[in-house]
Amino acid sequence: MLIKLKQQPADKILALMAMYRDDPRPTKIDLGVGVYKNAEGVTPVMRAVKEAERRLVEEQTSKAYVGLAGDPAYGDAMVNLILGTSVARDRIAAAATPGGTGAVRQAFELIHNTSPDATVWVSNPTWPNHVSILNYLGVPNTTYRYFDAETRGVDFEGMLEDLAGAKSGDVILLHGCCHNPTGANLNLTQWQAVVDLLLERGLIPMIDIAYQGFGDGLEEDAAATRLIASSVPECLIAASCSKNFGVYRERTGLLMGITEDAGNTGVVQGNLNHLNRQNFSFPPDHGARVVTTILTDETLRADWATELEATRLGMLGLREQLASELQRLSGSDRFGFIAQHRGMFSQLGTTPDMVERLRAEHGIYMVSDSRLNIAGLNKVTVPILAKAIVDTGI
Ligand code: LMR
Repeated sequence: MLIKLKQQPADKILALMAMYRDDPRPTKIDLGVGVYKNAEGVTPVMRAVKEAERRLVEEQTSKAYVGLAGDPAYGDAMVNLILGTSVARDRIAAAATPGGTGAVRQAFELIHNTSPDATVWVSNPTWPNHVSILNYLGVPNTTYRYFDAETRGVDFEGMLEDLAGAKSGDVILLHGCCHNPTGANLNLTQWQAVVDLLLERGLIPMIDIAYQGFGDGLEEDAAATRLIASSVPECLIAASCSKNFGVYRERTGLLMGITEDAGNTGVVQGNLNHLNRQNFSFPPDHGARVVTTILTDETLRADWATELEATRLGMLGLREQLASELQRLSGSDRFGFIAQHRGMFSQLGTTPDMVERLRAEHGIYMVSDSRLNIAGLNKVTVPILAKAIVDTGI
């Protein structure tokens, strides 16, 4: 059996991690995988996470199984963080998942099982693993226009035009904030127009929210998700704590299913539990418990929000420094979009050949679609990157 296996295509983000690791050049710069790094190039354990872990070590008395949906307190805390009071709690089913990817995977599988004829529409471009998982599960999928190659903003007209071609019952995958990979985002007026279209055509939104707090602030970054979730009858939300709590390897995610009728929530919850049971049984608990400890303790929550805000402002500062350095070196405003984008990423909008030249000639690693991780930079490396970009003729 195993002898018949064929090599699987490499994931372009993960392949880049390995290439970077193997590059002996001391001047190399990693702008690849979406992991936050501070000015020293370290991915720190957040203060509140350390403290919550310390408490857990001291106070936890058992490692026995919790429940198929994880600790209900985790679901409540995350629902509150993401949705606030925008949707009645009794319409929301929620289950812990192994990371945001686990939530995405469970959501796609739920769609596949329940609405096999539904097409899932993803932005062009989107996080590559969205498409990879959809194809793996055999879920019909297609793209809608999203990134305007000229302005490096959202091609909003194109997006609406394409989505107008979706059939009732199709699922529209939306990035709640901090679009990955482009960094280009809709404003609230545009989100409202998307909501109108969803309602008019009977489309079901699925929101992937993995960077809350990395864009314009914790509340601001949740605004689109709240608007959509409170306006439509049904909605799926896949959330990640990897980035905003910095608990990447703990695999801490949540899948929410919002149903029209509170009387149906129990069935949705049962299906989320069932999916977990079939795929991995009980979800990981440690990261979820850390997140719950932080979100339910006033002091820890405030400290976490302060550190997250400093992280966000640091990335914004780097964006502004990079945009102005590029303006100085190129003598043009064509890189102004970098300061407008939000979140961890910006897509430069250049060719894979140019990206490869940056790697080969300057030791600068970014994903071949020209996505760069702003958090991989610091004040010293911004001018180095800017010079390399201009010297390469991008
Ligand atoms: C990314 O987009 O780089 C992150 O979400 C990490 C991953 O799993 O791809």
